[in-house]
Amino acid sequence: MAHERSAAFAPGRVNLIGEHTDYNQGLALPFAIAEGVTVRARADHAPGAGGGRVVARALDLGERDEFPLADPPGSEGWRAFVRGTVAELARAGFPLIGGELDIRGRVPPGSGLSSSAALEVALCLALIELGSEGPPAEGFAGLDHIEIARLCARVENDWVGAQTGLLDQLASICGAPDSALCIDFSSLAVTPVPLMLGRWSLVVLDSGERHAHAGSGYNTRRAECARACELLGVASLREADSAAVARLPEPLRDRATHVIEENRRVLAAVAALSAGDLPALGELINASHASLRDRYEVSTPAVEATVARLLAAGAAGARIIGGGFGGSVLGLFPPDAAASIPTQAREVRPSGGAHLLVA
Ligand code: GLA
Repeated sequence: MAHERSAAFAPGRVNLIGEHTDYNQGLALPFAIAEGVTVRARADHAPGAGGGRVVARALDLGERDEFPLADPPGSEGWRAFVRGTVAELARAGFPLIGGELDIRGRVPPGSGLSSSAALEVALCLALIELGSEGPPAEGFAGLDHIEIARLCARVENDWVGAQTGLLDQLASICGAPDSALCIDFSSLAVTPVPLMLGRWSLVVLDSGERHAHAGSGYNTRRAECARACELLGVASLREADSAAVARLPEPLRDRATHVIEENRRVLAAVAALSAGDLPALGELINASHASLRDRYEVSTPAVEATVARLLAAGAAGARIIGGGFGGSVLGLFPPDAAASIPTQAREVRPSGGAHLLVA
């Protein structure tokens, strides 16, 4: 007999450094944050009724959706994520049960903190648990992290239309307290790296500009990287040679140079963290932002104003995070600037990954 109820939480993420590298088989250094999405599921075993249907409620929005468990049609907004996750789980062979899903989020959508990955991962955990037999599972026990991350990425790619990589989902699934995760997207190895901040703080400040990957320049950037690979004759920019990249036409040269240099900055950031050198981390964060603004061209005036505000308040480093074209800015503050952190900024702490809750 499958379970009557299940509940799961999955966090959003902040990417310390390594932006637009995931779909280029590169390196990134994200961490899961304490804020995320909670999904509570209740099976409906009534004959002929809930078994074949899903009723989903987005409690923060006061909105509702209802759709068939088998072959749900596509939709828009949050509904596309829920329907897509249900459909991809079914296609992957997970036994599912119809019923009710209550969704509550503490990550503002469109703020660049991966509310969508948190939603997909929490849905996966809650729905798999609801449909599974036997005693309640613990956390991700028995589930393949990479398989779930890929499944969630298919939801973004095929149901939402955003050609995103695996960064957000892997960070949400694998998050560990007090650690960033060094992810190598060519091997999909995830290595926790202690992120000991002492009296320093990491904050995010919303630029106020919302973004949606499907509609922004995100997909264009991804296509540009693919075109650069074609011209270079390599399978991914991870294999690209700097001398050959220098001969690419613009804007492809700038895009590929960003990726190659950003991978190096990730390694330098891991070294800075191991040495406890937070000022060096701040400089790397600033260099990453400059490259995202000038070479990758994913910044906006509102984001620039937000970066300037954090730097003026004494941040050792500030940069746009996530896909770009709006969203949040990350700031790294030394202890002596703590008093001048803007009051609207929210402190973020490296926290644990997705897990089941008591239903
Ligand atoms: C978004 C995508 C990720 C990644 C980042 C940029 O967050 O979802 O896959 O590409 O942008 O680093």
